[in-house]
Order: sequence, then structure tokens, then C-alpha cells
Amino acid sequence: MSINIQQLIHKKNSSSPICMLTCYDATFAKLLDKVGIDIILIGDSLGMVVQGNESTIKVKLEDMIYHTRCVSKVTKNSMIMVDMPFGSYQESPENAYRNASQLMEAGAQIVKLEGGKWLAETITFLSDRGIPTCAHLGLTPQSVHKLGGYKVQGIETQNATSIIESAKILEESGVDIVVLELIPSELGKKITKHIKIPTIGIGAGVFVDGQVLVLHDMLGLSEGHNPKFAKSFFSKGDTIEQAIRNYINAVRNKEYPNSEHSY
Ligand code: KIV
Repeated sequence: MSINIQQLIHKKNSSSPICMLTCYDATFAKLLDKVGIDIILIGDSLGMVVQGNESTIKVKLEDMIYHTRCVSKVTKNSMIMVDMPFGSYQESPENAYRNASQLMEAGAQIVKLEGGKWLAETITFLSDRGIPTCAHLGLTPQSVHKLGGYKVQGIETQNATSIIESAKILEESGVDIVVLELIPSELGKKITKHIKIPTIGIGAGVFVDGQVLVLHDMLGLSEGHNPKFAKSFFSKGDTIEQAIRNYINAVRNKEYPNSEHSY
């Protein structure tokens, strides 16, 4: 049986950091599953790192289904989280359910949706029908054109308060996990204290319950894309397996991220 949400909540309560990485194919999925990654995210970042696009916006539901099948076929231990792509959940809870259920049939164990409190009704609709959910708050890449770029969120008090409020409302609505992207470390800490479900950060500091990185960033393969949180764990002479183990150890020992990678 793969790791479940209760085990992740136990990790939060025992201050044992959760390790998550993106993955899009069977070869890497086997490796991540073997070395003990808690959550594999089939992220719509595949729009950039696999498809070569400038953003995640062109990713289709069929793309996510295809990559979910590739990954889920070979994994036994890690939880499989899958991004709902742009346009697949915003219209209505019913539309979100129809699309999320296709991802679940392909092998997802939890689906991730980007957005704040406006997602509450959809989260409850999915949760009541047996679909676990993760909400992605802070910098939400599918809204890059509305946000005016990949900028740190939650710097102004009003924006920070709105992110905290969204996390609480979505928790009440039944969301199981929250991903926090590109926010100040102190805000990550506040949200993590205020809610009982696990928070997983990417550029959200060390005071969250776990960390996620795009696999290609973690392996130092993302040329021209250097946000300060994206550390390469691949040292000269290492195997890929060792690089992944370096990441897991750094997260579990709370050595990554440090102030150099935080806002
Ligand atoms: O698509 C993705 O890879 C993500 C991570 C950046 C969290 O959503």
C-alpha cells in the first residue's frame, strides 16, 4: 500500500518533513518510489520541462492522463499526486469532478488544483465524492498572466492575509494538503501553524511540513531557469540516484531550504 494522508498528517504532527518531487515517466518513477519519496507529483510543469512551452497553460487533460498512466504503472510506495491542468476545474464543480475522475482512473491518488477560497465549493464537491485534493496557493503558475509574472506572493499584508484565509477556508471545505509556492518564509510558518493538514513548500521556507521541487531543477537540468529556491543536488561524480538521496536527506534533516533559498 502506498503512503496515505493519515501518515502524512502524522509526519506533520511529529515534525518529520515530507519529501515530494515531480516526475513524468516510468524510469524516474521507479527510482523515486525505490528511494522513498513520499509524494510523486505529476506536475503540469511538464508543459515546460517535457513539452518545451513557456508556461503550464497549454497542458491538456489528455497529457496529464498519459503521464499519470506512465508513472502509476510502476509505483508501489509513493503517493501519486496529479495536477488538474488549466481549464479543467475552473468552470464548475461538476466539470472538475468529471475531469478529476479521469485522472483517478489513470492512477492519481490525489489531485492538485491552483487557487484560493473560490475553490471551496469544488473542493467539497470532490471530497464528498471520494477524491482527495491538494490546493496550490501563493504563486499559482496557471495564473501567470493575471499575476504579471513569476513573482513572490504574500509580501503585502492584505495579500498575505488573503492567502492565510484561503488556506483555512479550504481546510474547512475538505482539502487534504496545501502546496505553498513562492511566499515569504514567515508566511509559510504562519499558515503551517494555523491549519492541521500538511503544507508542502516550494520557495516557501523551511517552516512548512515538507518540500517539493521540479525534478529537473533538483538535478540541475533547468538551464536559464534559476529561481533562488531551486537548488541542484547533483554533485560531480554522483549518480542520479545519489542526487535524489541527497535531496531527501537535506529535506529530512531540515538543511534545505536555508535562508539562501528563502524569501
Ligand atoms: O507543476 C508543478 O511542478 C508544480 C510544482 C511547482 C509544485 O505544481
